[in-house]
Amino acid sequence: MQTIRYGGDYNPEQWPEETWHEDVRLMREAGVNLVSLGVFNWGIIEPAPGEYDFADLDRIIELLHEAGVGVDMGTPTASPPSWLRRAHPEIRLVDHEGRALAGGSRHGVCPSSPAYLDACANIAERLAERYGAHPAVELWHVHNEYGWANAACYCPVSTAAFQQWLADAYGDIDRLNDAWGTAFWGLVYRAFDQIEAPAIAPPGVNPALQLDWKRFSNDAHIASYRLQRDAIARHSQAPVTTNFMIPNCEDMDYWRWAKEVDVVANNHYLIAERPENHIELSMSADLARAVAGGPWMVMEHSTSAVNWQPRNLAKGPGEMRRNSLAHLARGADGLMFFQWRASRVGSEKFHSAMVPHGGTDTRVWREVVDLGGDLERLAGVAGTDVEAEVAILWDWESWWALELEWRPSEDLRYRERIEAYYTSLWKQHVTVDFAHPEADLSGYRLVIAPASYLLTAEAAKRLHGYVEGGGNLLVSYFSGIVDEHDAVHPGAHPGALRETLGLWVEEFHPLPEGAGPALDSGGRGRIWSERVRLDGAEAVGVFAEGPDAGHPALTRHRLGGGNAWYVATALDHTTGLRELLGDALDTAGVQRPTGVPEHVEIIRRGRYRFLINHTDQEVAVPGPRGVDALDGTVHTGDIPVPGGGVVITTIIEE
Ligand code: GLA
Repeated sequence: MQTIRYGGDYNPEQWPEETWHEDVRLMREAGVNLVSLGVFNWGIIEPAPGEYDFADLDRIIELLHEAGVGVDMGTPTASPPSWLRRAHPEIRLVDHEGRALAGGSRHGVCPSSPAYLDACANIAERLAERYGAHPAVELWHVHNEYGWANAACYCPVSTAAFQQWLADAYGDIDRLNDAWGTAFWGLVYRAFDQIEAPAIAPPGVNPALQLDWKRFSNDAHIASYRLQRDAIARHSQAPVTTNFMIPNCEDMDYWRWAKEVDVVANNHYLIAERPENHIELSMSADLARAVAGGPWMVMEHSTSAVNWQPRNLAKGPGEMRRNSLAHLARGADGLMFFQWRASRVGSEKFHSAMVPHGGTDTRVWREVVDLGGDLERLAGVAGTDVEAEVAILWDWESWWALELEWRPSEDLRYRERIEAYYTSLWKQHVTVDFAHPEADLSGYRLVIAPASYLLTAEAAKRLHGYVEGGGNLLVSYFSGIVDEHDAVHPGAHPGALRETLGLWVEEFHPLPEGAGPALDSGGRGRIWSERVRLDGAEAVGVFAEGPDAGHPALTRHRLGGGNAWYVATALDHTTGLRELLGDALDTAGVQRPTGVPEHVEIIRRGRYRFLINHTDQEVAVPGPRGVDALDGTVHTGDIPVPGGGVVITTIIEE
């Protein structure tokens, strides 16, 4: 039987040796079986170039190993030592405004700098040589949060690397001119070295240049990761990963990253003040599972408050448990925290931890110990799959493109639409996968494209085939508009999806801020209206008012064996989206439980059924028959779930 990995970032270098002994004892008490070590210790283990001091690390690894605690071995490259910055000032990150960033913090480095990359590969290799075969080392944790504060660097080295990246991608400058549409404003290039990084400039920088810059910057970080991964692999058989920031990092394309790691590891922090923040957590978990293509692990979440939000609200009793078990329900095989012991020093001392400043006579510690106990009993969950019949399309490139400047409305936001659809499905107890637009979608009953502004011809062809083959596709406005270079697909909008949807759009009518037009079918739109012209589709809802009064707002196109729906305005759960999705789910044959309150999460993972009650009232959730995975109670009828509680059953009969 596999185990669920449980633990957190462990920074013993901040503590005297006697505390290490207490740490290890408490780790055993809490059921901790994995800690991330050495994520930020470069300045300690390499005090001067080529001089190493591994004495403390050697001792702490032995202590952990003796206690049966595995090591997720960090490489400390997110926080380069001050000697490196001093010897090589050119490694400093240059920001969009052209300022070279000072030290005193972490991450302020250029991801393409040869001096930095050499030093990173070297320290990774030294660590792997020393610890690669150590039986405690179960996993490698390269770097920390690639792209966190240095997603893109605008220094001359990066600019030259960008030019080379473009030369490799296009081969010929005229191919680039064509792809980028440089005839516009006559921004033609005659050689790759004429191309500048899109640093601060007058408005209207070529959007195709900006998209390739994002791709290049993402690739620069991937290349930097690969150097370390490959250095480690020369000395160690243990899997290698790095921690992602899904979905809150816009800049890294995690579809691409997921191919580079042995296990997907994700960091997620609740947005404390956000209403219904547990839905955003679920979305993060579902997206992490999607990029992983199966089980994944939480590398960091928090036991209670963080320290970097405007008001760092503490988690209430039971909230950490609900959060952790929601990740588990949605495919996580590991639940790790930042961090093990709350720091006394430095900039994160007001961040919660598994061991709070107040020690073990605290609610947080008791909940940490209880969760560790639960996870031991839930070991059978590890490695099992979550099944979903509905997919939402997610593409970082579409996010990048949609939010470039000079769009028809600044209210066209990528996550806004994805979250509207995700939230409504969540409240209807529908588990969703996320999928790349070019993925094989044939296994899904319903596919939703809430924000596919950028859609390649290949993706459009696949979506068309999916519908013709009997699939159900629901597309929201301003999707299928441009290709991978932000060029409008030929002809009327939405060029990539016109035939699939059986319609074309004559004119966009973005709306002023606030509530928008009512629909005759019920509900009310926001943000967007447009003049839809039917060409095969039928109208199933019409704008009752506004610039497109009397014209289609919701349409359905029967194509081959399937259906393609279109929504020409922004609906939300309570303003028409619940009903629209309900119709699409019914047509697609997606079953949902009835009579369960909205804020009770129901997730199937393997033979396990997770019931997570985010309300403060006890609820009774209908069968199937199951055995409580934590206390062995056999449930034959409705299953009571206490307010704020979690019940997990092993299904014994469908
Ligand atoms: C990030 C980092 C950690 C820590 C936490 C605090 O996720 O990876 O090192 O700074 O944030 O929330």
